[in-house]
Amino acid sequence: MAVYAVTGSASGMGAAVVERLTAAGHRVVTVDIAEADVVADLSTPEGRRDATEKVLAACGGRLDGAVLAAGLGPAPGRERPSLITQVNYFGVVELLQGWREALAATGDAKVVVFSSNSSTTMPLVPSRAVAALLAGDAERALKAYRMFGKGAPAMAYGGSKVAVTRWVRRRAVEPEWVRAGIRLNAIAPGAVLTPLLERQLATPEEAKAIRSFPVPAGGYGDPGLLADWVIHMLGPAADFMVGSVVVVDGGTDAWFRADDW
Ligand code: NAI
Repeated sequence: MAVYAVTGSASGMGAAVVERLTAAGHRVVTVDIAEADVVADLSTPEGRRDATEKVLAACGGRLDGAVLAAGLGPAPGRERPSLITQVNYFGVVELLQGWREALAATGDAKVVVFSSNSSTTMPLVPSRAVAALLAGDAERALKAYRMFGKGAPAMAYGGSKVAVTRWVRRRAVEPEWVRAGIRLNAIAPGAVLTPLLERQLATPEEAKAIRSFPVPAGGYGDPGLLADWVIHMLGPAADFMVGSVVVVDGGTDAWFRADDW
């Protein structure tokens, strides 16, 4: 039996991962804003500290792996870019930094971070914002999004996913992670039918943007299929997988960028 921490465990793809891990006999410490072993609001520094410490206490300082699935999609509202930035970027990197020693303690840990194909297919994501996030400066990133007006939440979403993916790839090859046996990788889903996507489809402007994105395979992805990929990335198949981004999006990324390889 291995011990995993999963954020965003109460819904969508995080919940599907938890279901598979527990069915396989593993122990999972779940983290979410409600209905979890560790109830914490990852949009605040205190919530992130609390989540980090409570997971460490629950797992006795040893983690075989972690899945960082908590996230917010774009939605209208002035506060949304900030919330997206806090949860999707800082809610991943601060927890992982806090868990690094626990992951190193097992000598063979696997981590999967939820990126998105927005990180490759969304045009105009300001590189200044991404650089600011990687430097830990949320305010500077938010300033760069403001000029997009109503498009700011979408830019914040794209920016958070580009930054978190770069963070994963940079840390993945650093000795303190890779030499400690920690395999850091990311999964980049396309449109997957979860409550997050359902909420977007219920907002006319968001729905229009989503429907305008080509999905060559047709329809939307199934959360269980994405969870199956995550489970594979938590197993021995990922021993030689370091800083990889697995795109599972029905072909959207290939449609836009077949030759960007
Ligand atoms: P979901 O909405 O079904 O689940 C997300 C979970 O994150 C929820 O349980 C929610 O309570 C939790 N969460 C949100 N804010 C939180 C906070 N402040 N503190 C603690 N927990 C919080 O979403 P879904 O679709 O399963 O998303 C999982 C991940 O996949 C997210 O990072 C999302 O950005 C990413 N993703 C989703 C896509 C989709 O089409 N559904 C496409 C690409 C990426």
